[in-house]
Order: sequence, then C-alpha cells, then structure tokens
Amino acid sequence: MILNRSPFMETSEMKSPPTLAVVIMAAGKGTRLKSRRPKVLHEIGGKPLLAHVIAAATQVAKPRDIYAVVGHQADQVKSAVASTGIRFVSQPEQRGTGHAIQCARQAIAPYENVLVLSGDVPLIRPETLETLWQFHLAQQAAMTILTAVPTDPAGYGRIVRKSPDSPEVEAIIEQKSLTPDQLNVPEVNSGIYVFRTAPLLANLHQLHDRNANNEIILTDMAGLLVASDERVVAIQAAETGEVLGANTLAELAALDATLRAATAGRLMASGVTIFRPETCVIDADVTVEPDTVIEPFVQLLGQTRIGAECLIRSYSVIENCTLGNNVLLRQSSILTDSIVADGAKIGPFAHLRPGSDIGQDAHVGNFVETKKAKLGAGAKANHLTYLGDAEVGEGTNIGAGVITCNYDGVNKHMTRIGKGVFVGSDSTLVAPLTLEDGSYIGAGSCITKSVPAGALAVGRSRQITKEGWAASRKSSPKPKQS
Ligand code: UD1
Ligand code: CA
Repeated sequence: MILNRSPFMETSEMKSPPTLAVVIMAAGKGTRLKSRRPKVLHEIGGKPLLAHVIAAATQVAKPRDIYAVVGHQADQVKSAVASTGIRFVSQPEQRGTGHAIQCARQAIAPYENVLVLSGDVPLIRPETLETLWQFHLAQQAAMTILTAVPTDPAGYGRIVRKSPDSPEVEAIIEQKSLTPDQLNVPEVNSGIYVFRTAPLLANLHQLHDRNANNEIILTDMAGLLVASDERVVAIQAAETGEVLGANTLAELAALDATLRAATAGRLMASGVTIFRPETCVIDADVTVEPDTVIEPFVQLLGQTRIGAECLIRSYSVIENCTLGNNVLLRQSSILTDSIVADGAKIGPFAHLRPGSDIGQDAHVGNFVETKKAKLGAGAKANHLTYLGDAEVGEGTNIGAGVITCNYDGVNKHMTRIGKGVFVGSDSTLVAPLTLEDGSYIGAGSCITKSVPAGALAVGRSRQITKEGWAASRKSSPKPKQS
C-alpha cells in the first residue's frame, strides 16, 4: 500500500527521487535491560524490537537498501532477522551511535540520503517516516531530526532549537551534558534522523568520545553540521508514543502494552468483539475476521489467523494456528501450530499440539490431546483421549479414554482410522495400525492388529461372572489374624 505510493521508492513513471539507504543501529548490548539477550531481540507484541523496526523500514525502502549495524551477539541478531533480506554492517566494538554510523560509512556512500533508525524504537510508523522524509526534502536540510515531547523527557537527548518557532536546530544535548537551564527543554531526540549523505560523510570523522557519555555519539553531528554552515532541522512526530525507546524492562513492558492495545483496537475497529481487551495478549501479526468474540484472558500469539463468527472462550492460548469460521473454542484450550476447520468445537481443556488438523464440524472435547493428528469432517473425540500420529476418517467416533500408542520407545508409528469407525471407550490402539472404514472396536480393547472394513474387533479378556459369590464369601470362615 504505502510501498506503492512511497516517495522513497523509484517508479518508472516518475522522475527518480533521491536515493535512500536505511541504517538501523542495532549493535548495542542493552546494559540497562540487565539481560543476556541482546536488546534488539527482546520482544514486544510477540516480535523482536528489531523485527518491528525492519517492518517499518521495508515500507519505505527495499530490503537490499536497509543495513542493520550489528555487534553485540551479532550472529544471534543476524539469524533472527535474516529472512527479511536486509543487509548487515559490523560494529565489532560498540563505541556509540556515532561510531555505529562510522562503521556503515562504505555501505551508505553510494546513496544520496540516509535514514537512521534505532533498533530499540520499535513503534515507529511508516507514515511518520514518510512525513520526516518529505520534510527533509522540503527543508533541503543536511540533517532532519524526528522529535517528540513526552511527559517525562528524562534520559533522552534534548533538542535545542535556534528559536522556539524555528525548524532549525542548534544542537542535540545528551542528558549527561545538560546545563541546569536545558533540563527544562521538553523536546527530545527520537534517535531517528535523515541525513544528506555528503555532509554526513564529510563530518563523520570529526565525531569523538571526549564528552560526558565517553562515547562517539551521533547526536554531536547536529552541532558539527551547524558549525559547518549546514542546515539542521527538526520535526515533531504526530504521536509521542511511537518514538519512545526501550532501555529498561519496564519501558519494554510499557511499549508492549501500547502495541497490544493498538492491536486489540485495530481488531475491534474491524468488527471483532473483545471483552476486557486489557486482559488479552494479542500479538501484532494476528488476524481475526469480523463477528468473532474473544473472551477475557485469551492469548492469540504468533501468526494466528482466526475466521469469522468464532467464539474464543476465556483462558485459551492459541499460537501459530489457523481457525476457520464458526469455530467454538471452549475455555482453557491450548492450540499450537495447528489447523481447525469451520464449525469445529474444541475443548474445554483440549490440547492441540503441533500438526493437529481438525476437520469441519469435528469435535475435540475435554482432556483430549492431539499431536500430528488429522481428524476428518464430523469426527468426534469428546473425552479423555490421546491421538498422536493418527488419521481419523470422516464421521468416526472415538470413545472416552481411547489412546493411540504411537511410540515404541524408539520410533513413532501411525494409526490410520477410516471413515465411520466406532472405537469403544478405553481402547488402546497399538501402532502401526489400521482400522478400516466402518469397523467397530469393543470397549476396553487393546488392539494390536489391523481391523478390516466393517469388522468388529474385541481385544480384552472375557468377563467371568460368579453368581452368589458375595454371599458365599461372607459365610466362609475368616482367615486367622496373625
Ligand atoms: C539515543 C540518543 C538520544 C535519544 C534516544 C532516543 C545517542 C547518543 N543518544 O540514546 O539522544 O533521545 O536514543 O531513544 O545517540 N547502538 C549501536 N552501537 C553503539 C551504541 C548503540 O548500534 O555503539 C544502537 C543500540 O543498539 C540502540 C541504538 O543504537 O538500538 C540507540 O542506542 P542507545 O544506547 O539505546 O541510546 P540512548 O541512550 O537511548
Ligand atoms: Ca535507547
């Protein structure tokens, strides 16, 4: 959408716009998180911070023009986002944000402009990047800074404008270098900028670490450019929330809450009912069709897709699943990497493990666990059952307490159950095994051999009934107590 009309993109009909590289600074350790995981791989809305930033960047540039600067645990960071097709620049020692851009010098040299993003500012919207870019072009600036006025500016770099109403900026002052007067400056640096590449590269070597941060900081570039008579301007983001960074776990939790509230809001606006949305955990990429109802305390995670007119009852957790229309998911069901077709009824307390494929109008009831199990249309497994490495045909009924014994201690084996089969309660089906169409299994059977179509198989010891046994027991002499 935005991609097609973006001024960042070249199209054959229009005059080529100035070329643009995107650099995402993602090499830092994230010391303030006090975590072993690199900061940019911490997640909000179920996705790493860096993945959110890349998603915004790919709306304004092609992946091959996007460079992530990686350093701390670079291999882990690269492999987490390799599938996006972006490129990487190495910053082996993290000496500051200015040093990160120095490391990207060669990569950005061929482009006329550079959009710099921070890997820890994940809520940035492509629309805002586009506004920033337009402003940069209109202002013919060497550096254009995206800013915000948050309720608490503490910790952020502050924007010192030439005068309050001027778009022009004098300098960015980091928290540690603020004079007492500057402590009151409300406008902060988002860590997102567009540079004209030529003046950036001409001044890049001048950045140094002789400052209160003891780091080579990119924010010093504003003052450097002004000193070289270059134009540095700032534009405020429309929404403060989208430029907030995550330096601590508390800030990360706040961004996660903002993103999830926005996701729930988007779904509700599209016709999904969510009761008590603040109690639900819905990942950023989840889709739900209209007229589906989501009860409190539901988790919809990963790449989950839910159709229309479903009812997802409380305490269910659905991860990377596709549900059709009219699915009823009763309370406390856990579904992972599975498919559920239209009209199926699942739960309460059902556990669909990876590879479960539940057919149209099928029933999977309470305390039923499935794994790599395909249930045909209308098949039922309503109570206390384990179906692993199994196929269950259309209209087949699996009685209470049926177990597929799919594992012999070394290998897994398949259980194939045809259409219209009746498996009596408490039967154990020792795989590999086939129960052909229309066969019957007597309750309590242990079935070890395949059963032909239409046959009855009973695999249990015969019942013995001793009439009058209870009375004769009572009258028989009691054994002596020792
Ligand atoms: C930075 C800005 C600050 C701004 C804030 C907005 C600087 C010096 N300060 O501060 O003005 O208000 O962002 O969120 O830039 N990184 C590297 N290599 C390094 C150091 C950092 O790639 O050597 C990356 C980090 O991984 C991070 C980003 O750059 O994604 C920003 O670094 P961070 O240390 O979080 O900067 P802030 O202190 O938040
Ligand atoms: Ca930061």
